[in-house]
Amino acid sequence: MNVQADNSALSPVSEERRNGEDDSGELNFSRFSIVFVALYANLRGPGCSFVRRQLVRILSPIEGGQMRSGTLRHLMRVVHGIDIGAYSYGCFDPVRFPPGTRIGRYVSIGPGVTAFRRNHPHDRLSMHPYFYRPSLGAASTADVETAPLSVGSGSWVGANVIILPGCRRIGRGAVVAAGAVLTHDVPDYAITGGNPARLIKYRFSEENIAAAESTRWWMKRPAEVEGSHEMSQPWACQDSSH
Ligand SMILES: CC(C)(COP(=O)(O)OP(=O)(O)OC[C@H]1O[C@@H](n2cnc3c(N)ncnc32)[C@H](O)[C@@H]1OP(=O)(O)O)[C@@H](O)C(=O)NCCC(=O)NCCS
Repeated sequence: MNVQADNSALSPVSEERRNGEDDSGELNFSRFSIVFVALYANLRGPGCSFVRRQLVRILSPIEGGQMRSGTLRHLMRVVHGIDIGAYSYGCFDPVRFPPGTRIGRYVSIGPGVTAFRRNHPHDRLSMHPYFYRPSLGAASTADVETAPLSVGSGSWVGANVIILPGCRRIGRGAVVAAGAVLTHDVPDYAITGGNPARLIKYRFSEENIAAAESTRWWMKRPAEVEGSHEMSQPWACQDSSH
């Protein structure tokens, strides 16, 4: 298999996984999983991306959609270096989410969201890739940093958000308003928006944020969350005893 990224240096999404392990037990794997993996991973040459997209379109509904598909997560991790937690959706796209992207559990990503992880070096005589990308022949070393990105569990990234290299972390439970341009990290439970994105407000009071954190609801399965918290009412800290 073509492993394109080594994510070992990044803060692991596995910290947000059940029992510190991966969450494959919560995901669906079709009996054709191994065939899809072999086909997808070994595709090469022109048309490869197109065929891969078709494979994803076929596979996703078989395994209960993006929120539950185990094989899609496996392919994203092993082939593209993108780590996606259980129940998250909208991020199964190696063009919009580069290698090194780590997405927690229960993350909602709106349409058109794109993460750019590198800047062209603008302090040089030329900013053209010829002079910093060795594969093009002129440059001897690749010295442009690729910024990692981690998207916290339970966050919601609205439509057409642009995530620039200055933003390496979208916090747990954060909201990013539609059309925002993120140039900095987004704090936990913050709602940010605009270009450049600024804090609009926090979702909850400090007390309610602490109470939400203490539940660690994102580590649970949906039925467990429903069973132990009132999910249809605004969050209030008196529920934190659950
Ligand atoms: C961020 C959002 C959730 C805020 O909703 P809300 O809590 O109802 O907040 P309000 O509409 O009352 O707005 C609060 C403030 O934020 C501003 N704001 C809201 N959306 C904004 C946006 N996209 N960009 C910049 N500012 C925004 C409002 O102008 C308002 O500012 P003001 O207090 O100075 O008047 C919502 O505006 C949004 O962007 N939703 C994303 C929808 C989406 O992308 N869906 C895709 C499918 S997943």
